[in-house]
Amino acid sequence: MSALPANPFAVVDEVTVDPATLAELRGTSDDRVIEASVKDEDAVIDVGLRPQSLEEFIGQEKLKENLKIFIDAAKKRGDVLDHVLLYGNPGLGKTTLAHIIANEAECNIKVTSGPALERVGDLAAILTNLQEGDVLFIDEIHSMNKAIEEVLYPAMEDCALDLVVGKGPTARTIRLALEKFTIIGATTRMSLISSPLRDRFGAVHHLTFYSPENMKKIVARSASLLDVPIDDESQEIIANRCRRTPRIANRLLKRVRDYAQVKHDGNIVAEIASSALDALEIDAHGMDAVDRQILQTIIVTFEGGPVGLNALAAATAQEEKTIEDVYEPFLMQLGFLNRTPRGRVATGKSYSYLGLKPPSSLL
Ligand SMILES: Nc1ncnc2c1ncn2[C@@H]1O[C@H](COP(=O)(O)OP(=O)(O)O)[C@@H](O)[C@H]1O
Ligand SMILES: [Mg+2]
Repeated sequence: MSALPANPFAVVDEVTVDPATLAELRGTSDDRVIEASVKDEDAVIDVGLRPQSLEEFIGQEKLKENLKIFIDAAKKRGDVLDHVLLYGNPGLGKTTLAHIIANEAECNIKVTSGPALERVGDLAAILTNLQEGDVLFIDEIHSMNKAIEEVLYPAMEDCALDLVVGKGPTARTIRLALEKFTIIGATTRMSLISSPLRDRFGAVHHLTFYSPENMKKIVARSASLLDVPIDDESQEIIANRCRRTPRIANRLLKRVRDYAQVKHDGNIVAEIASSALDALEIDAHGMDAVDRQILQTIIVTFEGGPVGLNALAAATAQEEKTIEDVYEPFLMQLGFLNRTPRGRVATGKSYSYLGLKPPSSLL
């Protein structure tokens, strides 16, 4: 990662990583390929492959339609955009959409994130530097601390900044007027957003997993931007194994390209795509060894469940948060796992997937 700029505003513009650092990172990294969160190697591909307009953005039709109306209406009134909250799993396009919204509304965008805002002063410095109509994108807005969140309330509602000056008996609050601006927040954890914060967003949008057809279009688009020759069937193979997540599709495409260059003539054909993904241990559902381990643990160790999140995390040596944010949503999508008030349970389908006989209660 590049270092944060040495200014007190803690505003990060696009993350750029120089190729040498990247090569080094790649050489030493043995992380999962299908992890949906941002890895260092993504910083570069993400920026290069990011759609710039709503038109280029594939899928999420309903959301795009709503955003288009929302932006056009504000433009027509000559008004500043209302605050927008985007939520959805990692890698589905939140950051991309935030930039698109700013582009389409012809606004400047400043970028920061919940964890980067450590002190109230950080946020105050950013807010007082915003011009009228600017967009402030706050990524991972759920991990902002409470004191900072409270500064945000009057800023979002009344374009005002309440600052406490002095200490003890001489302390007083002064109110500074801010320019009218727009906050776009992004989060993977809607449940961690407090209701006062959520209520201050005029528009709340959910990004969902992509259909295989849209995933195929995304793979084709990325391949053409990266100048990678790929046939139709291979596009489909990658589209089916990328957990319906664009970031993972882009990453798989790159791995398959490397494989095709080393083992073949550089062209991605079906046979090459399949063997590259097999070599990465990603099966036809897009599941890898960890997903299989989770299902196996529920079925074998916990007799199909229900099992609590912490027991499951301990038994699989994964973090609770990762299971909840990354694995479970996808396993639930596939119909392999259910969340019940008493814990996680394996479905009949997951027994068949592992080649096991489901108990009679699930038949
Ligand atoms: N709808 C889409 N169409 C095409 N590419 C997409 C789309 N959504 C995301 N991507 C690609 O996936 C990558 C990750 O998207 P990003 O916006 O960073 O996800 P998030 O912020 O939700 O984790 C981007 O670089 C972009 O290339
Ligand atoms: Mg993001």
